[in-house]
Amino acid sequence: MGFRLDGKTAVVTGGAMGIGEATARVLAELGARVAVLDRDVQHGQKTVAEFVSAGLDAKFYVCDVSDRAQVEAAFAAAEKDYGPVKLLVSNAGMQRYGNLLTQTDAEWEETLRIHVNGCFYASQTAAKSMKQTGGGNIVVVGSVQSLTAVSNSLAYVTAKHALLGLVRSIALDCAPFNIRANCVLPGAILTPALRWSASLSPDPEKVLETCGRMHALRRLGQPEEVARAVAFLLSDWASFITGAGLLVDGGMLVPTGGMGFAEGGTGAEV
Ligand SMILES: NC(=O)c1ccc[n+]([C@@H]2O[C@H](COP(=O)([O-])OP(=O)(O)OC[C@H]3O[C@@H](n4cnc5c(N)ncnc54)[C@H](O)[C@@H]3O)[C@@H](O)[C@H]2O)c1
Repeated sequence: MGFRLDGKTAVVTGGAMGIGEATARVLAELGARVAVLDRDVQHGQKTVAEFVSAGLDAKFYVCDVSDRAQVEAAFAAAEKDYGPVKLLVSNAGMQRYGNLLTQTDAEWEETLRIHVNGCFYASQTAAKSMKQTGGGNIVVVGSVQSLTAVSNSLAYVTAKHALLGLVRSIALDCAPFNIRANCVLPGAILTPALRWSASLSPDPEKVLETCGRMHALRRLGQPEEVARAVAFLLSDWASFITGAGLLVDGGMLVPTGGMGFAEGGTGAEV
């Protein structure tokens, strides 16, 4: 026995690669009809072509989530093709490193526009449709940085914290319409974005290895491991879960003082 998403129309933003791509694939494998929204046309079309050749039901719609008009147009096109949206995964995101003294207005605004405005536009567009059809489900991809901070990531940390508040507000306001909303909070996941971040260092492989050791499970997460948590939250198996932040972090936030404690902090003999 297992849950299925047969025949449900799903929208995945940022579905061309990484966590979004894995999520779109898992949802389609569970029977959903998946609209992949992304601003990257080349990767989006390639990803969807791979899904289709694997027998999955998916279509690509070009969309920059930070532009309300593009979000509404992409949803309208997807609903024309697939019928009313019942599932939304708001995943599109990016990173611009900087701290309070160095982060530029342009980086700050771009980061908040994509993560926060993008999630607001997609969630609002989805919820209006879901309300009309008796309900639906929203999952937002937050981060461990929705709860904690890392240095030199001012705008990103701020945006990820905001997303958890947005999800909790949606959960409360939309419960009467049978719409659930939850957030997944991933640790470090091996995606093109993480590889890009690592590439900014002179020794990218060492950065990836260090990121892996930040988790209690002592390895990086894989995009599919986030995708499966998203699918569960979207499914009827999670029918009494709303407004939650589900850590998918390999135990990263469990240890007092972080994994540095296990590497030689007081009392840690491992
Ligand atoms: N990889 C990690 O370690 C990690 C950890 C925690 C949270 N996250 C979050 O997961 C989400 C996906 O991250 P990823 O690592 O898969 O990144 P990624 O860069 O590998 O993929 C992100 C996708 O989003 C798309 N995108 C970016 N901005 C967009 C926009 N304005 N409109 C439409 N599409 C846009 C990109 O084109 C890309 O296809 C992000 O929200 C990220 O913050 C990632």
